[in-house]
Amino acid sequence: MTQIDFHAHILPRCDHGSDGWETSRQQLKLAREAGVEVICATSHFYGHHVSVDSFLKKRQRCYEELLTHVPKNAPKVLLGAEVLAFEGIDQLPGLKELRLQGTKLLLLEMPFTRWSEGLLDSVEAISDDEDFRIVLAHVDRYDRKEVEKLFRLENVWGQVNVDNLKKRFGKRYLREWAREGLIVAVGSDIHGTETGYKDWLTCQRRYAEDWAAIMKRTNGRLKELL
Ligand SMILES: [Fe+2]
Repeated sequence: MTQIDFHAHILPRCDHGSDGWETSRQQLKLAREAGVEVICATSHFYGHHVSVDSFLKKRQRCYEELLTHVPKNAPKVLLGAEVLAFEGIDQLPGLKELRLQGTKLLLLEMPFTRWSEGLLDSVEAISDDEDFRIVLAHVDRYDRKEVEKLFRLENVWGQVNVDNLKKRFGKRYLREWAREGLIVAVGSDIHGTETGYKDWLTCQRRYAEDWAAIMKRTNGRLKELL
């Protein structure tokens, strides 16, 4: 089964995840050494500060820079975005372009402040749109009950980060979500090279069965691209 890192900040100078191609090259090397075969480059997208169009232009430039420095046998890179949700985001021109390359999957990051009714309505509007499948970024970081409100919507699933998975998978609800099929992806959420893929490897080994089940779901969702 293809090992897919669904959430990573690896494009040189696209966001604070990598300060240049040397760092990006090292990140890809670490990913490869950890057995990652596909890596989703999900640079931060903040709709209050930048238009979709300028984000895409910048992302493309950064990607092209990366391509000229990709190490041998690097994982395949898919372009995406980690899209910060805000009230009215469903109306954002070009939102579709922020879906993971070749898919309907939108990696949506919920804010760490209180979720207003308006915000929840906007997420619901996206979830009702046939052109989208929402994957909530690092659901391990939020209040369980709040996340469960979103899981009740159509076409909404979650991604977990390996650093929290390592610490918190013992928490029953994360494991329950995984076993109910609500968790469809794992992510290193790598920034820089310090954190590396140590937690990734620990989780893969420690939770082998659940890991394989989650990875199977990611593979299923990306199957045309693998
Ligand atoms: Fe992230």
